[in-house]
Amino acid sequence: MTILVTGGAGFIGSNFVLDWLASSNESVINLDKLTYAGNLENLASLANDPRHIFAHGDICDRAFVDALIALHEPRAIVHFAAESHVDRSIHGPGEFVRTNVEGTFTLLEAARGYWSGLEGDARTGFRFLHVSTDEVYGSLGPNDAPFSEATPYAPNSPYSASKAASDHLVRAWHHTYGLPVLTTNCSNNYGAFQFPEKLIPLMIANALADKALPVYGDGRNVRDWLYVNDHCAAIREVLARGRLGETYNIGGWNEKTNLEIVHTVCALLDELAPGRTGPYSRLITYVKDRPGHDRRYAIDARKIERELGWRPAETFETGIRKTVAWYLANQKWVADVVSGEYQHWLERNYGERKSS
Ligand code: NAD
Ligand code: DAU
Repeated sequence: MTILVTGGAGFIGSNFVLDWLASSNESVINLDKLTYAGNLENLASLANDPRHIFAHGDICDRAFVDALIALHEPRAIVHFAAESHVDRSIHGPGEFVRTNVEGTFTLLEAARGYWSGLEGDARTGFRFLHVSTDEVYGSLGPNDAPFSEATPYAPNSPYSASKAASDHLVRAWHHTYGLPVLTTNCSNNYGAFQFPEKLIPLMIANALADKALPVYGDGRNVRDWLYVNDHCAAIREVLARGRLGETYNIGGWNEKTNLEIVHTVCALLDELAPGRTGPYSRLITYVKDRPGHDRRYAIDARKIERELGWRPAETFETGIRKTVAWYLANQKWVADVVSGEYQHWLERNYGERKSS
């Protein structure tokens, strides 16, 4: 038995592949285009593990995807591959529509073609699990109830709109063709191997380099934070026992303002890697806000707990300590991923955000 994972060289995908192979003997075909966000170094510990088969390719390439599926006959597809950074989607939405919408469409069609030809247990057991985000639900006010699976979609950024579109395609392929799909909508992940364009690893990397810690707007936007390994465990549960055609919200019950996050990271760095010129929080700099910046996300994760018994194992305090410690121990990993392209991105995104 084998599963096909897309985007398994990215942040969550690589954590998922590592966790999967640590707890199961079922092999993984890992289809990844290796964009700036994909990094095979994340999977270096699997270099001699025959259960991990890497396939360098694009989910938009139907012939490639068809051939890969025909060759390995996966019993499930777990779909992580996406363009994932909101700020990049604002600067260049085209790639988000291509990978997130057209790519998901291509995968769905390839999966449908394959699944239609299956019989018996292979057909009834097949699953297509689509990994999505809480951002499809839009933005909450301070007193609004958290997002539930029944919350109407109201995406606000090119990224979230492209993910919402992909969620709708997945839903339609179940409703119309009967494809056995599952969708998960998760809140902000943090943990090892997250690319340093995202809030937590960016703050750690900048603090250690004695650079400004750029907080957008007033820093009071709220996100719900989930340790990445908890997300991986939730996906395994949904894949194993989720009800076909259903969506499951996944969250950490951890609403924090961005300022709280940045202060927590600074305090941990003060403790674990004290700077020579005073506390890291002195580097906090308010900069121009993200256009259309969603104010608050919060997840009601009671359905997955009720139906599948999943709850996060990590508290924010334990998870963020592990995360900061991981980045301190893996500064070479960070140095290796902040390549020429990334320096370009920093100039593009932050060059125009004068401190306010
Ligand atoms: P990431 O940007 O770190 O990784 C994306 C991976 O997809 C990379 O390895 C990249 O090379 C690969 N990829 C991109 N385009 C591709 C293509 N056309 N064909 C094949 N591979 C391609 O993303 P992430 O943060 O790990 O997110 C993974 C998934 O989880 C995404 O679908 C994202 O929307 C979703 N998600 C992320 C979060 C979060 O907090 N990071 C939260 C909820 C949901
Ligand atoms: O909610 C789930 C989503 O979380 C995922 O679907 C996305 O793939 C993932 O990137 C993440 O989106 P966010 O936009 O919430 O994450 P990001 O780390 O970019 O930003 C978190 C918050 O921090 C957000 O309110 C913007 C703010 N921020 C971010 C950066 C990069 C700053 O204040 N300064 C920064 O430099």
